[in-house]
Amino acid sequence: MNDLLLRAARGEKTERSPVWVMRQAGRILPEYRAIRKSISGFKELVETPELAAEVTIQPVDILGVDAAIIFSDILVIPEAMGLPYQMEEGRGPWFPKVIKTESDINALHVAEGSELQYVYDAILLTRKGLNGRVPVIGFAGAPFTIFCYMIEGRGSKTFSEARKWLHANPEASHNLLEKITQSTINYLKLQVEAGVSIYQVFDSWAGVLSAELYKEYCMPYLNRIAQEVSQVPSIVFAKGAHFAMSDLLSSNFNAVGLDWTLNPADLAHIGSKKTLQGNMDPTVLYADDQYVVQKTKEMLTSFSGIPHIANLGHGVYPDTDWKKVKLFIDTIKAN
Ligand code: CP3
Repeated sequence: MNDLLLRAARGEKTERSPVWVMRQAGRILPEYRAIRKSISGFKELVETPELAAEVTIQPVDILGVDAAIIFSDILVIPEAMGLPYQMEEGRGPWFPKVIKTESDINALHVAEGSELQYVYDAILLTRKGLNGRVPVIGFAGAPFTIFCYMIEGRGSKTFSEARKWLHANPEASHNLLEKITQSTINYLKLQVEAGVSIYQVFDSWAGVLSAELYKEYCMPYLNRIAQEVSQVPSIVFAKGAHFAMSDLLSSNFNAVGLDWTLNPADLAHIGSKKTLQGNMDPTVLYADDQYVVQKTKEMLTSFSGIPHIANLGHGVYPDTDWKKVKLFIDTIKAN
């Protein structure tokens, strides 16, 4: 088995940087779109293990990545806790029911994992289909990012409703974050039991917070997840959280993802030995081939001497030409 990713995540020196791409499953491949068109919607794909496994494996076969990330969504956790989500075509997710009061929080239940049997089954089928070629990456949303959706019910530029809660209802906010954290731990343990070899926690909306709020409302919960789910290596990716890098680099996670606004050299003063992941700007992939190759090589150089997992600095955008993504991957593999 290609275990480059696992060795790099554990901080071992590898012959080259392993590569995978955030949001590699779905979004860009014509083969994904064909399957997506043949069914009623996104949720059907997520909840049908045979199909979820198929689109999980597609990027391994077509793009040649060093790992498969299980096809699912971070929003299965709020749903398992009692707030179902809907995925609107072209508009993204929304929740018909959101958290408005403390009694709404009390009514939520802690997910045990068993509600998410379809993810377990999708992981088993993915492993069978991969036949040991590459590891399977599990994932979950970070407690704060899930908190944002549970309160706002949809995406937002500012997540001001969610931030209001932190200031106006600190105790209730901690209660909600506790429940999400325990649910996430149970869920990630289920993924490990099904056979994921590594997992990533996505804190996609970290960037709306301050250093102070991140220390109080994010780090303790993130650290608890990494501590309790330590059977396999772990990666934390907190987008926009430049103010929290020293905390993340001394966290319980094995590896820390960087978005494209950071340069590994900016972090040298922290003196961390952790593995870093990232971080090419996904919009580089709209340029010509020569430029893509040049920027990919520059990214590799910026991480030289550091245990590194090559990736983009955020998920690949949906209208990216998959051939550019393949060029990014091939360039890394040739180095
Ligand atoms: O990495 C992968 O390819 C695995 C699958 C995956 C999906 N969502 C499938 C998906 C992963 C890891 C996610 C994580 C996720 N979901 C995040 C964190 C990562 C990030 O980008 O910051 C967030 C914030 C969500 C919530 C979510 N799901 C949004 C905002 C949207 C709409 C916009 C979009 O396309 O991302 C989704 C829908 C979604 N999740 C799609 C896919 C393939 C597109 C739905 C479709 O095919 O119609």
